[in-house]
Amino acid sequence: MIDQNSIEKLKATIDIVDVIGNYIELKKAGANYKTNCPFHSEKTPSFIVSPQKQIFHCFGCGIGGDAIKFVMEYEKLSYPEAIEKLASMYNISLHYIKGKSSYEEYKRILELLNHWYKQNLLQNNIALTYLKQRGLNQKSIEKFELGYTPSSHEVLAFLKSHQIPLPKAYEAGILAQGEDKNFYARLVERITFPIYNNYGSLIGFGGRTLTNHPAKYINSPQTKLFDKSRVLYGYHLAKESIYKEQEIIICEGYMDVIMLHQANFTNAVATLGTALTTSHLPLLKKGEPKITLAYDGDSAGVNAALKAAKILSSSGFEGKVILFPSGLDPADLVAKNDLQTLHQLFKGGQDLVLFVLEKIKEQFNLNNPHQKQKALLEAKNYLKTLNPILQEAYAQKAAIIFDYSSAFFTQKGKLSFENKQVKKDIAWESILKTLMQKPSLIDEVLNYLDFHFAREYEDAFKALAKGNLDHPILRGIAIDEKIPILNEAELKKQILQELILYYKQKLRKLTQNSTMDYKKKSFLIRKIKLDILPRLQKGELVLYESDFTL
Ligand code: UTP
Ligand code: MN
Repeated sequence: MIDQNSIEKLKATIDIVDVIGNYIELKKAGANYKTNCPFHSEKTPSFIVSPQKQIFHCFGCGIGGDAIKFVMEYEKLSYPEAIEKLASMYNISLHYIKGKSSYEEYKRILELLNHWYKQNLLQNNIALTYLKQRGLNQKSIEKFELGYTPSSHEVLAFLKSHQIPLPKAYEAGILAQGEDKNFYARLVERITFPIYNNYGSLIGFGGRTLTNHPAKYINSPQTKLFDKSRVLYGYHLAKESIYKEQEIIICEGYMDVIMLHQANFTNAVATLGTALTTSHLPLLKKGEPKITLAYDGDSAGVNAALKAAKILSSSGFEGKVILFPSGLDPADLVAKNDLQTLHQLFKGGQDLVLFVLEKIKEQFNLNNPHQKQKALLEAKNYLKTLNPILQEAYAQKAAIIFDYSSAFFTQKGKLSFENKQVKKDIAWESILKTLMQKPSLIDEVLNYLDFHFAREYEDAFKALAKGNLDHPILRGIAIDEKIPILNEAELKKQILQELILYYKQKLRKLTQNSTMDYKKKSFLIRKIKLDILPRLQKGELVLYESDFTL
C-alpha cells in the first residue's frame, strides 16, 4: 500500500496541464487549456483543463477530475496504478506501507543492466573499435551512455547473480520468451542505447547489431514503462536546447541524434524505429519549438518526411524539411567531419507546407488535365487540414505551384473561428456556482424554489444540496471562468428573475390546460396573476408551496 503522505507529495508536485499535455495536445484558452475530448468523439473542443483548480472537465461527455483521474481513465488503470505510473514518469519515489511498486522494480532492473552494459563496453575492443570507426568520440559515448550486451546466456547469468526474477526482467522488456517458455535476452551482441523519457527516467533500450544480424536495430518492446509511440530518443538531453533555441531537429536514427549532438546540434532527437505520428505531438508541443525534419533523401526518407510534414502542419506546427543527400545521413556527415555541408544543409530546408505541396505536384503529370484535376483536389484537401489563416495564405502559393486560381484552394465563407456553444443557462449556472461557494445559502434558497425550477440543472442542484460537488455539471460550472459568483443582492435578483420566469410559464401552461378541474384552474391562475407575480415584481421573495405545484 502506498503511504498517503507520498500520494500528497506526488499531488503537490505534478501539474495537471503537464500531465495531460503528455498525452494530448492542449491549446491555451484564457486562463484554461482546451482540446478535443479524448474520451468521446467530437469536432469542436469541449475538454477544458484548469491549471488553477488542477482539474479537467469535458462539457460534452461530463468526464472530469484531477490529474490522477485523467491517468486512470486514459491508461485504464486503477487508482494506485495511476499513482505509480505518475511517480515513475516524474521520477518521484513513493513510500510503501506494505509491498512495492512494480515500476520501481522495473526501473531498478533497467538501471542495473544499463550499468552493466556500460562496463561491458569498456572491456570490449570490437565494440569500441566499431564506435570509433563510426566517428563517435569518448564524450558522446559517455553522454549517451552507450554500452554492450553480450550473449543471452551471459545476460541470464547476470540477472540470476543479482537475484532478479526472470519474469520481472521479462516484464521490464529485457527478456523474451520462446515457444518452449524459456526466457532469452532480446538484445544479444549489440551496442546498447538506453532510452529515457522526457523527465529523464530510464524506460528501455535500443540495440544495434555488431554481427550483421538481419534486424539492424531492436528496441525494447512496449512495456508498462515504455510507450515507443510517444517517446523521442535523446529528448531528455536535448530538452534544454530545444527550449532555449525554440527549435527541435527530428531525425531518423539513434546514430543521427548522437552525431548531431557531437557536432553541437544539441537539439536533435529521433523517433524510435517508427514513423512520426500524432502520439509524438504532445511532446513536440512542449516549449513550442519550430521543427526541422532531417531525413534521408532516399525514397523511404522522403515518404517519411512527407507523412511527418502533413501531420505537423495540420497540427499547427511551423517548420521545415531537410533532405540529406542519398547515402549521407546526418551521422555520416559528422563522421566524415564534413561540418560545412552539415551547416549549409541546416541553413536551408523547405517550409513544411510548401514541401507537401511540391511533393503532391511531383506525383502527377500536370500536363494531363485528368492528372491535374487529381493533383488540384489532393492539394486542396490537404490545405483544408490547415487552420483557416494558413489555408488562406498558402492558397496563394498553391496557385503559383499548380498554376491555378487561388480561390479554388480557399473555402470562402467557411473561415469562421467561432465554435458553436452549447446553449447554456448562465442564470442557473451562476446561482449554482454561488451556492457552491456559499453552501449555507442552499436551505434558504430552497424556501423559494424547488429543485425542478432548475430544469436541466435539476440533477446538478440536487447533487449540490447533497454536497456532491463532483457532479459533472457542477465541475463544468466550477471550471468555467465566464460564470460569475454573485453577491447576496445579485443572488436574490437572479432568483427573483427565475421565479418570475417560472410562474409566467406556469401561467401560460395553466391557461392552455383543458383537462384540469375548472375551479382549481381559476384559483391557481388568480393566485399567480394577482398575488405571486405582483409580489415578485416588487422584489419580494415568495415562499414556495409544494402542494401548489401541478
Ligand atoms: P536506418 O536503417 O536508417 O539506420 O534506420 P541508421 O541510423 O542509418 O543506422 P546505422 O547508421 O547503419 O547504424 C533508422 C532508424 O530506424 C530504426 C532505428 O531506430 C534506426 O536508428 N530501425 C532501423 C529499427 O528500429 N530497426 C531496424 O532494423 C532498422
Ligand atoms: Mn546510417
